[in-house]
Amino acid sequence: MRTKVVIIGAGPAGLLLGHLLENQGIETVILERRSRDYVLGRIRAGVLEQGTVELLEQAGVSGRMQAEGLIRDGVELSFDGDAHRFDFRELVGRTVMVYGQTEVTRDLMQARDAAGATTIYEAENVALHDFDGDKPRVSYLKDGTEHEISCDFIAGCDGYHGVSRASVPETALRTFERVYPFGWLGILVDRPPVADELIYAHHSRGFALCSMRSPTRSRYYVQVSTDEKVEDWSDDRFWDELRRRLNDETAGRLLTGPSIEKSIAPLRSFVAEPLRFGHLFLAGDAAHIVPPTGAKGLNLAASDVRYLAEALIEYYEERSSAGIDAYSARALARVWKAERFSWWMTSILHTFPDTDAFGRRMQRTEFDYLVSSEAASRSLAENYTGLPF
Ligand code: FAD
Ligand code: PHB
Repeated sequence: MRTKVVIIGAGPAGLLLGHLLENQGIETVILERRSRDYVLGRIRAGVLEQGTVELLEQAGVSGRMQAEGLIRDGVELSFDGDAHRFDFRELVGRTVMVYGQTEVTRDLMQARDAAGATTIYEAENVALHDFDGDKPRVSYLKDGTEHEISCDFIAGCDGYHGVSRASVPETALRTFERVYPFGWLGILVDRPPVADELIYAHHSRGFALCSMRSPTRSRYYVQVSTDEKVEDWSDDRFWDELRRRLNDETAGRLLTGPSIEKSIAPLRSFVAEPLRFGHLFLAGDAAHIVPPTGAKGLNLAASDVRYLAEALIEYYEERSSAGIDAYSARALARVWKAERFSWWMTSILHTFPDTDAFGRRMQRTEFDYLVSSEAASRSLAENYTGLPF
């Protein structure tokens, strides 16, 4: 088989890249290790930056998002029970959209089906070959048969544990990493959200987040230590812990119910540089991870893919390599700023096992400063709603 671009991974990065390229008549094949249902069953991000929303609109995949997504003008941050609302529209004239990653994925899968583009699910043993030259190939196993695709470019959109980054010689990569000493235990429940907007809460027992997927479906998280097991968290234990970390007024309004999903995600900051190795490009979680506190992971996947699609379109339409040469530096400049914001939000809002009294006062003072300074509030709003693509 032959195609122009082989995309590894049918997460949001791979599907969106495929869509942007197919829209310009550039043929792609997506290879995905899991089944379609498995990919759609993973509950992950929930907040889209305005730039991501605009990209989905331009790409022509925003119909359902416009109808069902929830535009939100602000968020609440609370510190030991003291709550403050940051009004994004007032501070920076921008908003965010609550629309689940699973829904973005579903919309992109449907658009790909409608375009008749090829996605091979349950592709095993995906392996990348000769991407340092101009005749790269990708091999995989499907239903016990070995296949090979030759192509012009490979896009590694296969997440943190994928094969693409792992195929790059170690000496060609520089990595930066911080692993946090805690994770997030998340629960999905068919009950209306406790508030109209998201609430990020710092508490001495640990961080808590109240989020949502729709007017009737809520997503809640509590910080847990890395050795916690999800089996040890009954729904009742989760709700008790969440209530204790919210202020009395919010806790009193909380509507609980049986969980429809419950999982623990570890928190990590990670960046691999560069994002290009000959004819292989990395995008999204394959190249970088942020802790979810800034709601940036999915949005960074979108900005990477926008830059990469522009570069590849320029290559095919104008036979110019300027865009593909600039891709890594352009994407990384934005990635590092989102890394900074996500690290900073994480640092203020969580409890760290080794933080002393001085460190705790610094966290409190960061919060007090944010609340009292319009400049600091605007900075938070500018970053949360998303720096320009
Ligand atoms: P992914 O979504 O990881 O997609 C990669 C795809 O590649 C997957 O479908 C995978 O099956 C496939 N793949 C992997 N290896 C191979 C292979 N060898 N061959 C073929 N295919 C392969 N962000 C937030 O903003 N808020 C959150 O609450 C949040 N929660 C998260 C929870 C978890 C457990 C994780 C892992 C991430 C979370 N994120 C969250 C981050 C956000 O979901 C990611 O940034 C986003 O999914 C990145 O998209 P992606 O397409 O780059 O990678
Ligand atoms: C979510 O709804 O899953 C969510 C929202 C905001 C975050 C992280 C996760 O910062």
